[in-house]
This record gives sequence, structure tokens and C-alpha cells, in this order.
Amino acid sequence: MLHIFSKKHYLKDLLEDFVDIHCHILPGIDDGSKSIEESLILLKKMELLGFKQIIATPHIMQGLYPNDELTIGNAFQNLISELRNKKRNTLVINPAAEYMIDTNFEHLIDKEHLFTLKENFVLIEMSYLQPPINLKEIINKIILKGYIPVLAHPERYSFYHDKKEFYKDLKQYGCLLQMNLLSLSNYYGPSVQKIGHFLLENKLIDFIASDIHSNDHIEKFSEIILSNKQIKYLQKIINNTKKTFLVS
Ligand SMILES: [Fe+2]
Repeated sequence: MLHIFSKKHYLKDLLEDFVDIHCHILPGIDDGSKSIEESLILLKKMELLGFKQIIATPHIMQGLYPNDELTIGNAFQNLISELRNKKRNTLVINPAAEYMIDTNFEHLIDKEHLFTLKENFVLIEMSYLQPPINLKEIINKIILKGYIPVLAHPERYSFYHDKKEFYKDLKQYGCLLQMNLLSLSNYYGPSVQKIGHFLLENKLIDFIASDIHSNDHIEKFSEIILSNKQIKYLQKIINNTKKTFLVS
């Protein structure tokens, strides 16, 4: 019998007490939130979705977003004081960063001077145009310095889409993989969605995160409907993200 009224499973229903380890909600220092007012709106919506903790990860990218502990620290303090003034203190927010793999990043690894998501987990990203030629060496270097690399949105690097084996290599090098919630839909295009599905099915994803830059991102992932199969894979990843990063 056809169940025309069968229940739809929304992604947002799985995000109760979620810890978001990748988002751009600090005001005015990258391509994410542009002002404190915008940050307050984004945080309110994340709270309404059930998010419990937020690790804010502004880009640190040579030339484009030259952030450091000063710019990130200031943006974080400004936001926290505003939240305190408004007596909004239910969300736990911590500052970290999303590091573009570039020469500045390599210097920071040498100095062992990295913002971590928690303990020794470091969020990294690479250009969407081409992979770094020395990626394996850089991952090795990060690990040798005692950090654990977490690659942001591996599904979004199109130059790996026809080299699927490379994702397994990355895991073998010791790099963990963080998928974006929006890659469960065709927001970034059908090939990103397809690779996202491949990575989930092959159990290559360790963590999931929002990568929120604006309200548009929240609206879009609030609409995502999941299949039973996707829920099965995702639940484990959500649990692992919470188990690894939630602080009580
Ligand atoms: Fe990001």
C-alpha cells in the first residue's frame, strides 16, 4: 500500500544539542557575518535549530583574510560582550579558525602556533582551483607537530571528484574529513552532492558541520529532507562530532 502521508525526515530534526565545529559567525573579519547585528541573528537561528555549542572558525587566508589571534580575539570579545549585554547566554561559543593551506600556514605550523577546534584538532582547507602540490608533506608536518588535521568539506574540491581513491589516501595519511550539511542537498551542485554521498556510503566522513556564512545557508539546510539510508550514515557522524567536540 502506498503511504502518501508517510513522515518526512528533516535534517534539522537530527541537530538537537549539536556542536557546530565550522562556521563563520564572528562579525566583520571574513566572508561570513558582516556585523554584530548579523551575528546575533545567525546565532539566534542556530539556537532555535537546537545547536548547543558553536566553534567559530573565521578564515585565515594569506592576502585575503589575514586574521590572527588579535583580529579573531577582538571579534570574539565584541560578540560575547554584546550577547552578555542582551543576557543571551545559553549558547557556548569558542573561537578557532579555518586555515587555508598556504605559506603563512606552513610558518604557523613550524611555530606550533595554531588555533585548534578543541585540544589538538586543526581545521584546514585548500583552494577550490587546485590541490597543494605538497599536500601529503603538509599533513605529515601537522601530525609531527602533534596536531590532528581535519579537512573542511572534502566533497567540494572538484579536482578530486574523478580521483575518489585519493579520499582514502587522505585518511591513510591521518587526515580526518569534515563534510558540510549543505552538501546533503544540491546547494553546491549535483557533483558535490554525489561525492558527499559516496564519502558517506564509504564511511570516510568523520565530522559534519554547517559552514554557515549567512542566513541563506541556515534557511537552505533547514529545508533538507533525508532518506532513511542517509539518516543511518549521518546519525553516526553527528554522534561522533558531538562525542569529540561537545564540552560539558
Ligand atoms: Fe568555511
